[in-house]
Amino acid sequence: MSHLVAPSLLAADFGNLQQDIEMVNSSKADWFHVDVMDGVFVPNLSIGTPVIKAIKKIARKPLDVHLMMVDPGRYISHFKNLGADILTVHYEACTHLHRTVQQIREQGMKAGVSLNPHTPVSLLEEILPDLDLVLIMSVNPGFGGQSFIPGSLEKIRKLDDLKKKHWLRFDIEVDGGVTLENAKSLVEAGVTVLVAGNTIFASDDPIATIQKLKELS
Ligand code: DX5
Ligand code: ZN
Repeated sequence: MSHLVAPSLLAADFGNLQQDIEMVNSSKADWFHVDVMDGVFVPNLSIGTPVIKAIKKIARKPLDVHLMMVDPGRYISHFKNLGADILTVHYEACTHLHRTVQQIREQGMKAGVSLNPHTPVSLLEEILPDLDLVLIMSVNPGFGGQSFIPGSLEKIRKLDDLKKKHWLRFDIEVDGGVTLENAKSLVEAGVTVLVAGNTIFASDDPIATIQKLKELS
């Protein structure tokens, strides 16, 4: 099956957000990646309720919401009401991850769990059958435009091995420092969803860059 591409709106032009959303609507991209940061779990703040509402009104593709916040379980119905289609929480931020994942699914969203660079994939083995997506952070979360951490590739291979070992179908998403140069090796290692912020929005022709990320020839 071919992989998906999810442009990260964190790198969009927030003064012309509608224009950038319409660009993604008209491109070959599959999802909108929306980063929510609380200034506690990560040392940065991003967007919240009013901006996500505005995005949802214009977006014609699923919203893939990445919560970089402590205690995300308190906000599951909030993000459902804002229009999240995929809701991803961090392993490091959830004491009762299994409960949080069940609640996301009960609300009719796909459930994702993200791992910081230092967190081994083996910690997810027991919960993998309950997940729709695992998000491998290939930078330390909090900022766009950072360099890909090389060890993430091996981590993706390990996760893909676990997926095959247990005959599972969850998506493997990679986020941080994805470029036209490393995207192919990521997909070959098992990635099914490529998130890209700066690679897309800082390029001269974002629509063509999205197409290149889709085709990887
Ligand atoms: C970082 C965010 C990413 C970010 C990726 O914490 O989760 O989604 O936007 O940006 P790039 O692709 O520029 O590294
Ligand atoms: Zn993200």
